[in-house]
Amino acid sequence: MKFLITAGPTREPIDPVRYISNRSSGKMGYAIAQAALDAGHEVVLISGPVALPAPPRAQMVRVTTADEMYDAVHANLVGIDIAVLCAAVADFKPAAFSPHKIKKKLGAPIIEWVPTRDILASLGALPEKYFRLVGFAAETEDLEKNAREKLKKKQCDVVIANDVSAPGLGFESDENELTIYLPYQSGIVLPRASKGDLAKALVKILSAMQ
Ligand code: PMT
Repeated sequence: MKFLITAGPTREPIDPVRYISNRSSGKMGYAIAQAALDAGHEVVLISGPVALPAPPRAQMVRVTTADEMYDAVHANLVGIDIAVLCAAVADFKPAAFSPHKIKKKLGAPIIEWVPTRDILASLGALPEKYFRLVGFAAETEDLEKNAREKLKKKQCDVVIANDVSAPGLGFESDENELTIYLPYQSGIVLPRASKGDLAKALVKILSAMQ
């Protein structure tokens, strides 16, 4: 099987020295990529800027902004069986990029923000979807309610929720706890474990869904 996986944050430039981004080390997405490769699958890994080595044998596509990630995902859909969107994509970007460094002496700038394109929702809305679409939900409250809303609104087959407010889990940590939501079924809890072990369990479950 062929997996397309997104991982890491995106960075939305404000001026040549500043950007807005989301918290994400890429560890969860890279662990899923490694687990899929170890299970004998092909992997296209579309990664925002992270400090992790590329998993050997993954087809790497490196991007910086949400727009670049959107284009890279859509350019790499041919032949995939499962898309797992684990990246922490910035929801907003500055309406305009300042080509010169914004000077502090001018006072705190007022920046106009515009929404980025939602990559997961754009895949859910494809008229002919021949692959399983798996989204992530990073939540700080009402995990199940918010995950199920994403499942429906973004037309996913699966949403994997993680509580990013719990200490030592979620963003940047080596461990996580995941709950897998499918329509009309109870959530499947993968209890606290290393991201590597969770990724192995996840790949097993997702590849059995084909
Ligand atoms: O990278 P780590 O440090 O290991 O941390 C892992 C993680 C916490 C980042 C990861 O497990 C996780 O939860 N990733 C999703 C983060 C996120 O942005 O969640 P969200 O609830 O805001 O977005 C929901 C889904 O829509 C996600 O699949 C996201 O990739 C996708 N999305 C969001 C916005 C956008 N413009 N395009 C998208 O595709």
